[in-house]
Amino acid sequence: MQDMSVTQHWPPARQSAVENGPALLPDAYAALDTARDLTARFLQGLDTRRVGATADAGALRAALGGALPDLPQDASSVIAALAQSMDDGLLGSGTGRFFGWVIGGALPAAIAADWLAAAWDQNAAAYATSPASSVLEEVCGAWLKSLLNIPAQASFAFVTGCQMAHATALAAARHRLLADRGIDVETDGLSGTPPIRILTGQTRHESLLRAARLVGIGTRAIEIVAVDAESRLRMDALAQALAASDRPTVVCLQAGEMNTGAYDPFAEACALARRHGAWVHIDGAIGLWAAASPRLRPLMAGAETAHSWATDGHKWLNVTQDCGYVFIADAEAHHAAFAQSTSFAHAVDATRRQLEWGPEWSRRARAMPTYAVLRTLGRSGVAALIDGCCEHAQSLVRGLSELPGVQVLAWPRINQALVRFDNDARTDAVVAHIQQDGEAFFGATTWRGMRAMRISVCDWRTDAQAVERAIMAVKKALEE
Ligand SMILES: Cc1ncc(COP(=O)(O)O)c(C=O)c1O
Repeated sequence: MQDMSVTQHWPPARQSAVENGPALLPDAYAALDTARDLTARFLQGLDTRRVGATADAGALRAALGGALPDLPQDASSVIAALAQSMDDGLLGSGTGRFFGWVIGGALPAAIAADWLAAAWDQNAAAYATSPASSVLEEVCGAWLKSLLNIPAQASFAFVTGCQMAHATALAAARHRLLADRGIDVETDGLSGTPPIRILTGQTRHESLLRAARLVGIGTRAIEIVAVDAESRLRMDALAQALAASDRPTVVCLQAGEMNTGAYDPFAEACALARRHGAWVHIDGAIGLWAAASPRLRPLMAGAETAHSWATDGHKWLNVTQDCGYVFIADAEAHHAAFAQSTSFAHAVDATRRQLEWGPEWSRRARAMPTYAVLRTLGRSGVAALIDGCCEHAQSLVRGLSELPGVQVLAWPRINQALVRFDNDARTDAVVAHIQQDGEAFFGATTWRGMRAMRISVCDWRTDAQAVERAIMAVKKALEE
């Protein structure tokens, strides 16, 4: 019998393809050395890297495409060629000078834990398929709830991102709202049931619409509630909408609206919605993290009285893609929406079966990077990450406001802001110019009928120097 102890040192002694069986090609582990070297080079080059991609789709197809090879190839050379062919098509979202959309950076602890997750290749479906992954999720779920001021008894799931967090929460809401009317939606489906409606503000994120489509509620069910000048839901409009119908209702509030970082008045909205038997969901993809900062926590007052909360690890926590979290106060409704009965999932009682809390079955050990980041930063480190990004957003917008022709449409309440250059055409042209130049990256959006440049600061690598470089990049674009 083979002595397994010889494989305890990595990399293991190379063996021939014959000894290892046909599936393992000679020198397959050399690919890991190559990937480690390429990773180090990539991370060391972030400060000098262009932020935008330089290759277009045609160039990338030419570099990566061609016919599927007939013969096996050496894995190490494949990895080297893959990295080289993709390099010009990468966005430098981890450079500290990337402020487009809302895409976080990746902390080294998260990258390292993700490497291990890939190497171990655990199927984190249930305790039975990976005991350690299941317990790790239990631990992370409890830590996240405590960090984000979510009630301790709430259930939770690790999903791919905030959109799937919305879908998971809407499935639980659908269960509760219809079960309370005597309907078993998991068995009978939605046909013939009272149509659910979703009340939310105009600036709700598109992912909510896609989630509504996924769970069969549909986008026609979305009713827009007026917002005030600060982009917060107006309570008189919400009260009116709630009173207007006795249809099963979900109210979707926002913690950190993506253009202005606005926070809805949670305490008031939750109390109102609860009086009407409505389910309150909070889209906190960006802004739920305010709860982790003592300075920003007042923005979240009353949010703990909602029914469900959605956020991301891959944005502001700087966990690697793809990682979202959903928390649901009504654990019974959550479980009812995803419970299943095949044998292996029940193999060990009183342990977490992740697949019964979310839409996926087989999946990677997504909690590993989250665990590594939470342990590395600790409570105070997460607060410092959040506060630091907000401070850099302030100094970035302050610096831009001093440039000629810059109008600040929304100063950062948290890490999100909007500026504009003279008019729509000029705004688009300046954004395009900055992207082309490659020193920094911002995105463009339409806000209240005006084109604007959106700023999102959610990378741990953004520092005073990165902010200064970004201001200079905008100045240069304005002068050309
Ligand atoms: C406010 C808000 N909600 C939801 C989402 C969707 O998140 P994800 O891309 O993780 O699915 C985003 C993405 O930017 C967002 O900004």
